[in-house]
Amino acid sequence: MSIVYDAAARTITLNTRESSYQMQIGPLGHLLHTYYGRRAEGNFGALHLKKDVGFSPNPHALAAVTRGWSLDTLPQELSGANSGDFRTPSVCAVTEDGRRGAELRYVRHEIRPGKYALNGLPAAFDPAGEAETLSVTLADEVLGLEAELLYAVYESRDLITRALRLRNTGKGALRLEKTASCCLDLPFGDWDLLHFHGRHAMERQPERLPMMNGVMRLGSRRVASSHQHNPFAILCNRHATEDAGDCYGLMLVYSGSFELEAEKDQMGSVRLTAGLLSEGFSWTLQPGESFDTPEALLCFRHDGLNALSQRYHRFLRRCLCRSPFSTAERPVLLNNWEATYFNFDRDKILTIAREARDLGAELFVLDDGWFGRRNDDRSSLGDWFVNEEKLPGGLEPLIRGVKELGLQFGLWVEPEMVSEDSELYRAHPDWALGVPGREPALSRSQLALDLSRSEVTDWIYETVAGLLRRYDIDYIKWDFNRSLTDLYSPALPPERQGELAHRCTLGLYSVLERLTAEFPHVLFEGCAGGGGRFDAGMLAYFPQIWCSDDTDPIERLTIQRGSCYGYPLSAVGAHVSASPNHQTGRRTPLDTRAMAAMASGFGYELDPGRLSEEEKERIRGQIRRFRELEDFAREGDLYRLTELDDKRDYEAWQIVSETKDESLVNLIVTHPRANPRPLHLRLKGLDPAARYRLEGLETFAAYLPEPPEPLPEIFSGAALLYAGLTLPRMMGDYPCVQIHLKRAED
Ligand code: DGJ
Repeated sequence: MSIVYDAAARTITLNTRESSYQMQIGPLGHLLHTYYGRRAEGNFGALHLKKDVGFSPNPHALAAVTRGWSLDTLPQELSGANSGDFRTPSVCAVTEDGRRGAELRYVRHEIRPGKYALNGLPAAFDPAGEAETLSVTLADEVLGLEAELLYAVYESRDLITRALRLRNTGKGALRLEKTASCCLDLPFGDWDLLHFHGRHAMERQPERLPMMNGVMRLGSRRVASSHQHNPFAILCNRHATEDAGDCYGLMLVYSGSFELEAEKDQMGSVRLTAGLLSEGFSWTLQPGESFDTPEALLCFRHDGLNALSQRYHRFLRRCLCRSPFSTAERPVLLNNWEATYFNFDRDKILTIAREARDLGAELFVLDDGWFGRRNDDRSSLGDWFVNEEKLPGGLEPLIRGVKELGLQFGLWVEPEMVSEDSELYRAHPDWALGVPGREPALSRSQLALDLSRSEVTDWIYETVAGLLRRYDIDYIKWDFNRSLTDLYSPALPPERQGELAHRCTLGLYSVLERLTAEFPHVLFEGCAGGGGRFDAGMLAYFPQIWCSDDTDPIERLTIQRGSCYGYPLSAVGAHVSASPNHQTGRRTPLDTRAMAAMASGFGYELDPGRLSEEEKERIRGQIRRFRELEDFAREGDLYRLTELDDKRDYEAWQIVSETKDESLVNLIVTHPRANPRPLHLRLKGLDPAARYRLEGLETFAAYLPEPPEPLPEIFSGAALLYAGLTLPRMMGDYPCVQIHLKRAED
């Protein structure tokens, strides 16, 4: 049993293999959060001193007995509003007669096997029958509001999921104003917030900051999780490193506007909340109706950031993403975007496809520009029929040609958008979001469709399903190239306009649910101008997401590092592109580009016709190598070998197979220096008792100024873990080395 109720202590404890999470029902029924940390037994209620703090109010029924009990100072399992806790609220509702807030008290709880599901939202599932669900119902009888707190415990995975179901149990309408998915109070400790910010072509830059006194608030108003902030953050002990120290992760399974707040209060207690963006949000519940929040995935590890990331990686691959590709081999692809942009015709595409096949690619992807009159990015979104000028005879002959080469065929679409210059817009101008009387803001010259409307989501579903039924398509790249503005829907009454942003995200999920269920054999890759929707909500449907429009391998190292604090390498779509790079102009060696891109969604995005014979031969070798390493690289544990704030001249990461029989060490020199310090790496995750054979040391010979002293080929695991490896100096532009370790037979 991973969930234990102690009736005498009035505690409910959730145990994973290495963590414990406890709540306690207070004297008046308020639900206190008494512990989350390393696995431990006991009643942790006594950790929290019931002490009189000036200006922190007491519940009326307790005030005569003690001034030491306050919602404002004790850790809450789900904070209310307007009832004595001045810290960040999690839930706030308003009745028709203007009573506003939430003061929630225990009604009942239930423990049951399996994993709860959410209405209309992606959520983790339970593939191995290991999850246990806790449902705790709290109520505010004055408002007629019931809050069902849902938890699922995945004991062996060290993961706890949380969500909230709010119900109107009153007689009149109830307006929800704030609905956080999760509230985590940590009364003790010295915490840093590690979060992931950025911009287009520079996503998920990790930033670690000490918690300030006050509120640190991140989020998105874009109706997309966004390039700018990611719905995932970590609170880690001030001294935590990649390999030691307490860390808490909070990941939202959501792809729309969100907020994540981290508050350090007057007593030094830290509260982390996350959920739907509350600014501009409201949701009306009629009597008897309920509302589900997105799910939050919580993980605690006592042994550093690498261990925390690994738990998320395994969990997302196995328990969140429903695509059969999540844990399967993916085809190596060649995408024509950076090879041709909009400028192509059938012959050019077939020439590229033939060359791609000769390089060893397995899937050819036709990117933007194949439909309507799309010769640049100013028209035709919505007109998902073939541009016959570029592709005479339509897609069939092209797909046939690609298939005859022995390649799979993939297609780009951006179905949530519409161009003003399109047949769709001329037929249904009201399907685009826009405030009546105001010209809507354009972004990349396009408008966004109103996915809160079922006729729009039905049309998107029919359009994409129609393509998939009509053509022999193996892969879809699903793009989304603007943030949403001008939120107004003629389909919603005035008092429900605050629901629109969330309804658009629910509309998207309804389409993805239908399409991925109907076409499980199609490999879907998410994309939003690169990584503008790189989140667990999208990963529930799509096994991989194009990580960034910046394909410069050196820039990608930080983007991919930031992405992989929470998301697995197998979710990262990454391609080798041309040098000089189209975004930065930087020149990098082909091997370095391939090493940076060797995640599971691996491919090429360049014109093979411009490659030399030597480069082509190298690419053939890279694809063969990727195939050899793919399985264990996809399923293995990722270790960052450098600390975030190291002053270093290289980036290095390692993948270790589950059995510890194999490992791959990758290193790219990011700042070649005169007279550099020795390049020394301590490896991680290996079996200290094993002996490992090292292969691949010769790969970096090209960068060595003089022949290196030969390294021994066999090391003990202990030597690699505790003493490490010192690599010879490498010179030139961005050299790299990849070392493959295999357990040596005795
Ligand atoms: C943005 C994507 O991220 C690119 O890879 C490419 O598909 C373009 N859109 C096409 O418009």
